[in-house]
Amino acid sequence: MPIAINRLTAFLLAGLCITVFLTHTVVQQTTGQSTIQHISKLSKFLPSKTVNRWADLYVSEDDFPETTHMSGVAGFNYFHNLYSANGTFLIVTSNPESLPSYGISGILSALSDPLDKYHNHAPAGEDRIMIVSPQEAKERMLLGKAAIRKSGVSLMFADVKEGTLSSFLNHYYHFIGEMFLGLWRVVTAAGEIELPSRLIYRAESADWRDRAGITTWFQQAVLPEAEIEEATIYEDRKKSGVTFLFDKIAIADRWAAHRIGQEVKYWNKANADLPLLDVPLTWMDPLRDQIKRLALAEGCDVKRKRSKVPVVTYINRQLTSRRLIDEDDQELIEEMEKLDDEGVIEFHNAFMEKLPRVDQFCLVMKTDVMFGVHGNGLSHQLWMKPKSAVMEIMPVNGFARDYAILGEMMNHEYYAIHYNETFPPEKWRKENGYGVDQGPDFHSPRYTIDGKWMAGMVRELVSIRINAIEPPLPW
Ligand SMILES: *[C@@H]1O[C@H](CO)[C@@H](O)[C@H](O)[C@H]1NC(C)=O
Ligand SMILES: *[C@@H]1O[C@H](CO)[C@@H](O)[C@H](O)[C@H]1NC(C)=O
Repeated sequence: MPIAINRLTAFLLAGLCITVFLTHTVVQQTTGQSTIQHISKLSKFLPSKTVNRWADLYVSEDDFPETTHMSGVAGFNYFHNLYSANGTFLIVTSNPESLPSYGISGILSALSDPLDKYHNHAPAGEDRIMIVSPQEAKERMLLGKAAIRKSGVSLMFADVKEGTLSSFLNHYYHFIGEMFLGLWRVVTAAGEIELPSRLIYRAESADWRDRAGITTWFQQAVLPEAEIEEATIYEDRKKSGVTFLFDKIAIADRWAAHRIGQEVKYWNKANADLPLLDVPLTWMDPLRDQIKRLALAEGCDVKRKRSKVPVVTYINRQLTSRRLIDEDDQELIEEMEKLDDEGVIEFHNAFMEKLPRVDQFCLVMKTDVMFGVHGNGLSHQLWMKPKSAVMEIMPVNGFARDYAILGEMMNHEYYAIHYNETFPPEKWRKENGYGVDQGPDFHSPRYTIDGKWMAGMVRELVSIRINAIEPPLPW
C-alpha cells in the first residue's frame, strides 16, 4: 500500500530533522576551520567539575596512571595518582629519578621504638609506603586488577600518638600553623588552589582534637565540604582488600621533616622548610575567602570603621599564665588608646578567648597591624591580608621562631620585639647556625614591653597602610 505523504507531514518531518540537528550538534572551531560535531563531543568543552564522578570511579589495571610527585619539602609531599593497597602507599613510577632526592625518608616515617626515650623515627618500611615500577607492581601483584578512585584533593596527617609522645595535632597551632598549612602550601606550590575534599587522620580522634575546639571549628566551618576521616576509616580501607587511587594527595609527616629537613634541624620546627617553597602571594585566599563569606553571612563586616584609619589589634593574653607584667600591659593599652583618640588607628584590645569564633576571625581579617605576647593567638595572622604587620613580644632574653615562620610564609612585615627594640633576623641564630634559646622567662608572667616605644612603631607601621584595601571576593 503506497504511503501518501501530504504536505503537512513533509513539513513536520523536515521541522523535526532541523530540530534534531540543532539540538544534537555543536559547531567546533579550530584554527579557523569550522566543523560540525555530534553533541556527545561537547563534554570535552565543559569544566571538568561537571564530569560525572561516578563514571570513572573504577579504574582497571590497563588504565593505571603512574604516580607524579608534584611538589614538596621533607615531611610535606604532594602527589598525583598515589596508590594505596593493604594499608601501604605505592608510588608507581618508571622514572624514580623524578622523585625528590630525600626519597621515602623525607615522605613517611615508621613508628618509633617504645623503649627509645629519644623517640627516633626511622623512614617508613614497605608496610607503609614503597616505590615500585609498574612492572614490579604487576609481578608482585601489589595493585590487583582494578582500583577505586578517590577524587579531589586529600590531605593526610600521618602522625599518631606513640606512648607518651603526642601526635602534636591536638594543639591548634601545631595543626593549623604546621601540618595543615604545610599541606596547603605544597598543593599551592604545585599551582593548584582546590579546597580539600577530605582530611585523613591516622591518629585516634582524642589525639588530634584540640581542647578549645578551634581545629574542629575550622574543619566544619571553613572546609564544610571536606570529609573528615578518622583512623578507623584508614583501617577499613586497609581491611577492604581493595586498591585505591588517590587523584591528588598531600601527606604530612612530622618526623620526616625532622629527620631530613634542611632548616628544620636548626630551629626544631617541623614547618621551617616550608618558606623554601615558592607559592603565589594569594596562596591563602581560597581559605581566607571561605572565612570571609562565613563572617559576612553572620553579619560581621570585614571593614574598617573609617576608611583611612588602619585597624590595630592587640592579642591580649593577660588572662593566661604567659603574659606581660600588669603595669606594662596597662601602659601599652593607654598608649594605643591615645593613638585611637588621635584618629591614627582603630584600636582593638582583643581577649580572643572571650569572643565568638566568627568575631575573632572577622576582627583579624580587617586587622592591618597585630601584636601580642608569643602564643597561639598569633596564629590568627594567617587570616590577615598578605603584607600586613605583626609584632611578637618576646622576653628580653629569649626568642622562638614559630610565629616568625608564619609571618614569613604570609609575606607579612614581621618583628620580634624585646622590650624597646626589635630583635632582627641576623640575631636569631647562634654561631653554629642553630636558633637562639627561648630563655628562662619564656613561659612566665614576666614579659615586659615599653608602651611608648610600641606606639612609635605602630605609628610607623600604620602610616604605610592607610590605603591598604581588602581584596574583593572572586564570587
Ligand atoms: C598486607 O600487609 C601485611 C602487613 O604489612 C603483610 O603481612 C601482608 O603480606 C600483606 N598482604 C598482601 C596481599 O600484600
Ligand atoms: C631601652 O631600654 C633600656 C633599658 O631600660 C635603656 O637602657 C635604653 O636606653 C632603652 N632604649 C631606647 C631606645 O629607649
